[in-house]
Amino acid sequence: MDKRSATTIASVLSEALPYLQRLNNKTIVIKFGGNAMTDDALKNSFARDIVLLKQVGVNPVVVHGGGPQIGKLLEQIGKESKFIDGMRVTDSETMDVVEMVLGGLVNKSIVSLINHNGGQAVGLTGKDGSMIRAKKMKITRESPEAQAPEIIDLGHVGEVTTIDPSIVNALDEGNFIPVIAPIGVGEDAASYNINADLVAGKMASVLGAEKLLLLTNTPGILDKEENILTGLDGKKVSELIKDGTIAGGMLPKVNCALDAVHSGVKTSHIIDGRVEHAVLLELLTDEGVGTLISS
Ligand SMILES: Nc1ncnc2c1ncn2[C@@H]1O[C@H](COP(=O)(O)OP(=O)(O)OP(=O)(O)O)[C@@H](O)[C@H]1O
Ligand SMILES: [Mg+2]
Repeated sequence: MDKRSATTIASVLSEALPYLQRLNNKTIVIKFGGNAMTDDALKNSFARDIVLLKQVGVNPVVVHGGGPQIGKLLEQIGKESKFIDGMRVTDSETMDVVEMVLGGLVNKSIVSLINHNGGQAVGLTGKDGSMIRAKKMKITRESPEAQAPEIIDLGHVGEVTTIDPSIVNALDEGNFIPVIAPIGVGEDAASYNINADLVAGKMASVLGAEKLLLLTNTPGILDKEENILTGLDGKKVSELIKDGTIAGGMLPKVNCALDAVHSGVKTSHIIDGRVEHAVLLELLTDEGVGTLISS
């Protein structure tokens, strides 16, 4: 390494000092979107960033999605994927695949990448320690033809009723990094497929996290002309939902980001997980890399 690049590294580290001081001992919930984790090199650098955070005294809690990975396995077994309002319709057979892919393949691949980079990750689903209690999500749709709103059955799609943070706190104290798959358990012991953004948002609230980072596959929230909206509050978000600018998978994401800031999380950020070191850029530099959601 020449002297100039060594000096650059030293000054970059030095510039991070105030951020590190502010984030010391703070919990950051990071949602790693299934769509942001399709590139192996990026996945590895994400894992390395998480290890670095833990090393410098921040408590990262990872919640992951896995939509594309679930879709791929369903396709391999010849089962069609169907979505309503950005949510996967989940019959019992699909739920088995969701549990296998999210709780198995995807969860363990993140755990092992973190561990490979020198961290100590522990993978969990919401069933472990009965951490995430869930109930069936009920959605309705109104149409001009129908007299009453139509109830739409999404099968095993759930919403969070409660999160018990004790297992996550215990892992943090033991210096482990929790990696959570968004599967909840119902009162009837049934499994529920929960949108990972919902779990990450509630987890951030329950843990009293400093920040919620939602990594996805867009530069942030985009307007109709595809320009990035760098800062939004509740009022602006409702307008963008109303006029259809925010749709699909961005809907649950932005709602969770808002819920989190309304329940004590300082800031939520929707950031581009396809940018290398997106997490470090957002947390340790002035370079915000996405949309900041505040109350
Ligand atoms: N206004 C908007 N700005 C940006 N993206 C939007 C907007 N409206 C809708 N979207 C869609 O939302 C998608 C992100 O949500 P999506 O659920 O697909 O990914 P994810 O949540 O990161 O992954 P996973 O659901 O697997 O965890 C974008 O890829 C984009 O297609
Ligand atoms: Mg999503």
